[in-house]
Parts: sequence; C-alpha cells; structure tokens
Amino acid sequence: MLEGKLVNLRIVEKEDLPLVKEWFNNPDFTGEYDPLDAQESKADIEKKYEKLTPEQKWFLIETKTGSKIGFIGHFPEGDLLEIGYALIPSERGKGYCTEAIKIMVDYLFLSKKIVRIQARTNVENNASQKVLEKAGFKKEGTFRKLMFVRGEWVDTYVYSTIREEWKEPKILIKTASQS
Ligand SMILES: CC(C)(COP(=O)(O)OP(=O)(O)OC[C@H]1O[C@@H](n2cnc3c(N)ncnc32)[C@H](O)[C@@H]1OP(=O)(O)O)[C@@H](O)C(=O)NCCC(=O)NCCS
Repeated sequence: MLEGKLVNLRIVEKEDLPLVKEWFNNPDFTGEYDPLDAQESKADIEKKYEKLTPEQKWFLIETKTGSKIGFIGHFPEGDLLEIGYALIPSERGKGYCTEAIKIMVDYLFLSKKIVRIQARTNVENNASQKVLEKAGFKKEGTFRKLMFVRGEWVDTYVYSTIREEWKEPKILIKTASQS
C-alpha cells in the first residue's frame, strides 16, 4: 500500500476485477474526453490483468477509510512510463487525484531508474490538465488528431515530469516519517 494524506494507492487484486471492469465499461467513470472503446468482458479484463508486468501496474485509489474511489495505472510507452487515472464522479473535485498522481510519481521515481513520466490528455479535458499541473507536470506540446473520442478525432496535449525537476519524494517518505 502506498499511503498519502488523503488517499492510498493499493495494487489491484483479482477480487477487484469485477469493480475495475464495471468502471472501465462505464462512460461516466472514464469521462467525456476519453475514447469510448472499453466495453470489455470479464474474460478480456482477466486476460489483461494476467499480462500485467512490472512496467504496467494497476492501482485502486482508496480513501483513508478504505472506500474504493478510483483507478490509477502506469504502462510503458517506448522507453518511458505513462500514467492514466479516473475517479468515480461523486469523489471528484476534492484533491484526491492530484495526490494520487503525486504518490504515483514518488513511487515510480523511487522504484525505477526512469527519468521521465508522461501523461496525455484531450485538449478539452481541463480537470485532467489541472491535476497534472498541480502534481508538477509540464505541458510539452500537442499531438494533433491523436484520439478518436465520441465520433471525432481530437487533439491531445502531452505532459511530463522528469527526475531532475522532481528532486525528492513529495508524499511517500514524508508520510511514512510523520505517521
Ligand atoms: C480528471 C480527474 C481524474 C480529476 O480528478 P479530481 O480528483 O477531481 O482532481 P482534483 O480534485 O485533484 O483537482 C481537480 C482540479 O481541476 C479543477 N477542475 C475540475 N473541473 C474543471 C473544469 N471543467 N475546468 C477547469 N478546472 C477544473 C478543480 O477545480 C481542481 O482544481 P483546484 O484544486 O485548483 O480547484 C477527474 O475529473 C476524472 O476522473 N475525470 C474523468 C476521467 C478522466 O478524464 N481521466 C483523465 C484522462 S487523461
């Protein structure tokens, strides 16, 4: 378990897969700015889960009382790692995802010899851009017409944070020493 002040990140267990499947297949959860392409069966999700590697991990975002409120994961994109995240609608706007991303960044830079973590977001997705900026990511540029979302090709911003800017853990070590 990776512990923050507002939320914890807990690795997805096999027992969590029905919930993860429900979330991935629910357009209210994935949001209006991402492709509507999940619609995966239990078998599809289980197959993906079995194929996860150290470079691709799925975490639940949980409140401090253990409620399961969202998903955050990392996956390889060439030689670097990319992150993706979503929260159930009722728990948005409370700072939870910002902290979840900060925890993920600490975890990845503390556990892997990577120098860069990336995220991509629909140019219309202001909330996602805001959380990335609050978590220390910088906008690098635009991929034109990269994603097919709700019937149209949309532009996507790429954001990154690099090890030399991150410098030191923001949440993980501090939380451990304070508790
Ligand atoms: C993007 C998402 C994960 C953000 O999670 P969250 O926990 O609500 O984020 P936080 O509460 O940490 O921060 C949200 C920030 O965005 C701001 N925000 C929210 N909606 C916004 C909007 N439509 N326009 C501008 N800013 C917005 C909030 O005010 C807040 O900033 P503040 O703390 O300065 O007030 C959540 O909206 C979500 O799950 N969306 C659907 C899935 C998704 O789009 N995932 C990302 C794909 S790239």
